[in-house]
Amino acid sequence: MSDLRPIGVFDSGIGGLTVVKALRDLLPNENISYLGDTARVPYGPKSAETVQRYAIELAEMLMKQNAKALVVACNTVSSVALPVLTEKFSVPVIGVIEPGACAALAASRNRHIGVIGTRATIRSGAYEKALRAADANVRVSSRACPLLVPLIEEGLLNDEVTDRMILRYLDPLLADDIDTLVLGCTHYPLLTGAIARVLKRQIMIVDSAQNCARAVEEMLDRQSLRAAPLNRGELRVALTDAADSFLNVARDALQLKFGEFELRALP
Ligand code: DGL
Repeated sequence: MSDLRPIGVFDSGIGGLTVVKALRDLLPNENISYLGDTARVPYGPKSAETVQRYAIELAEMLMKQNAKALVVACNTVSSVALPVLTEKFSVPVIGVIEPGACAALAASRNRHIGVIGTRATIRSGAYEKALRAADANVRVSSRACPLLVPLIEEGLLNDEVTDRMILRYLDPLLADDIDTLVLGCTHYPLLTGAIARVLKRQIMIVDSAQNCARAVEEMLDRQSLRAAPLNRGELRVALTDAADSFLNVARDALQLKFGEFELRALP
């Protein structure tokens, strides 16, 4: 049995490519269709209702490409729209919050975990819920970092302005004595180097990309949806609007190889 239908992956912009990178490394035989909603990024400042509507539209576009599963490579969407998507679509839907929360709990020694994310993600309390569901005694300090996504989308990954913003956002969490920091936005792994640079003490940094990829692998096995081992998985990238820096960041920072990206009109 070989299921060559693509895994549909989406995000508001470039962030979900960090999940794609982890999927490509773990599941090189799988075909992947990535959709980045560059026309409407950022999602973080928007209401839950708007994000849910956008998420359904993107998922429908991927389903038209015959996706065998949907990977919500966006914390903002995962935190407010997962139940709606699971109910509406018949294929398996995997988000990034639970995998990230599990990875944080495995990493933390003092059970005090910091979470950074977009305003919508932090406002939803999704990480607190996922962390507390697994460990009622865990302490969680959260902080919204609304300026980081625009800086990343601009490609300012190694820039003193970005470093200053990271420090400003992280200072209160560090004062709270966290020992583990969850990068609760799929854009943020692109700042791992900058975050490590500005942190003054040893902190475990956790992102959900690899754990999400593992959850996808398990699901494909469980549901017999794997592509044949001999298949050379292809990555197709579509965007809802042009984005010059998107391609540079994808190729330079993540070394992801794909052909020309397609421009896809929103419904
Ligand atoms: N990368 C997304 C996330 O994980 C979206 C960020 C945004 O568009 O604001 O939250």
